[in-house]
Amino acid sequence: MGILFKNGTVITASDMVKADVLVEGEIITHIGRDLNATGHEVVDCSGKYLMPGGIDVHTHLDLPFGGTYSNDDFDVGHKAAAFGGTTMHIDFVIQPIGGSLHDGLAIWRKKAQPAQIDYGFHLAITDLRDEVMDEIPSLVDEGITTLKLFMAYKNVYQVNDTTLFKAMQKAAQNGMMVMVHAENGDVEAELTPALVAAGKTDPKYHAQSRPPEIEGEATNRAVVMSGLTGCPLYVVHMTCEQSIDALRRGRAQGYPVMGETCVQYFHLTVDDHLAQPGFAGSKFVCSPPIRSTHDHAVLWQAVRDGTLQVVSTDHCDFWYEGGVGPWKEWEQAHNGGDWATFEAQDPSYRRPGKELGKGNFAKIPNGMPGLEDRMMVIWTSGVNTGRISPSRFVELNCTNPAKIFGMYPRKGTIAIGSDADLVVWDPNKEHTISVETHHMRCDYNVYEGMAVTGMPVQVYQRGNKLVDGDQWYGKNGAGKFVPRTPYAPVL
Ligand code: URP
Ligand code: ZN
Ligand code: ZN
Repeated sequence: MGILFKNGTVITASDMVKADVLVEGEIITHIGRDLNATGHEVVDCSGKYLMPGGIDVHTHLDLPFGGTYSNDDFDVGHKAAAFGGTTMHIDFVIQPIGGSLHDGLAIWRKKAQPAQIDYGFHLAITDLRDEVMDEIPSLVDEGITTLKLFMAYKNVYQVNDTTLFKAMQKAAQNGMMVMVHAENGDVEAELTPALVAAGKTDPKYHAQSRPPEIEGEATNRAVVMSGLTGCPLYVVHMTCEQSIDALRRGRAQGYPVMGETCVQYFHLTVDDHLAQPGFAGSKFVCSPPIRSTHDHAVLWQAVRDGTLQVVSTDHCDFWYEGGVGPWKEWEQAHNGGDWATFEAQDPSYRRPGKELGKGNFAKIPNGMPGLEDRMMVIWTSGVNTGRISPSRFVELNCTNPAKIFGMYPRKGTIAIGSDADLVVWDPNKEHTISVETHHMRCDYNVYEGMAVTGMPVQVYQRGNKLVDGDQWYGKNGAGKFVPRTPYAPVL
């Protein structure tokens, strides 16, 4: 017995067709008109779309950052993702300074249990010693084909140009791709203390400490290195005209360079969000910063004309007002990290969050929630407005992530033989986004009050139902690590 998704309109990156889809076991086995339902469970998709599960290739679950940890762990974050139609994500393993890549991997493998949706890992290199360089090729055997390097966060995660260039050479030799956080961290490290010394400590000054020029400059630097080394480059969380121009120039020269933006960079601005009175702007502090309506238009154009290939979230959420409890002592006593256990023992306790930066924007943990919201927000502001077609929506959120990151056609499409990661999408369902109803472990939502039309009503992973309406059906721990293949295409 299989599951027959009947009477829906199937959306892929190339087509929108009326078709039935039969799932047997974990995979799609038939696609056609009027498939025989005998012996199968039927999911009636009349008036609905059927699309591949979303893939968010940029998340930070349980990330140590800025004196605390991001809130959503793999358990809670995975469920929230599924409620938003995302059935797979790729998280960033951080190499511990002084440790090996596999040390980082061991930590993240532990964090990832229990997994509720499928997941993969990128490896963020922070300390490229010779023996670490030698370790890189072995990652491919473990299904990890992407390295991440930070050109920002000086004295924390930032690497220098030598390291970036060498990592690109090594990645190119092994069919891997390099991802960069492109901001000039050396310049930021000059601007920030000067602003603070001048008394400019409110959250809005975070944007002045990281102007678009330093994103454009770093993007250009990485693009040039990609051209020189031939290493495929993927620039994460692009926000502004300066960096889009740099990427476009590289692509025009035939360099193997690609980029993503994140849902927040189409919607939020410094004036309306980061500059909110009091400390409220801290909710919107992320790096690179949110920008202007002009940049929103530049990004929409870039996803339309193919300069950008992917929309992700950079999901990395922190409490707006945490800090209850003796967290510092506890952190020391517990060797730095099992927050969930501590919170279970003392429900009044919350790990510290944005309030760490009260009085100094530079100390605000960087990042915001978005994993659950991505698809409904982009559908509403992209498809419903005519900016992008439903197929382009699927391409940006599902198919291109699978192709670029070496998982296609197992993931990211509806095809015979593909994993049955399926979303039944109701294009007419209305919903108002709110912290009151979201599933992310965060005490605010950056799209609070936004009315969306179009959202998932049922979500399946490899043929197993995860979500139906507002009910969770997933089997605890059923999410699996997805190994990825090297030499993925450059789109
Ligand atoms: O503000 C952000 N983006 N936080 C997460 C870490 C990163 O830079 O991606
Ligand atoms: Zn980043
Ligand atoms: Zn990130």
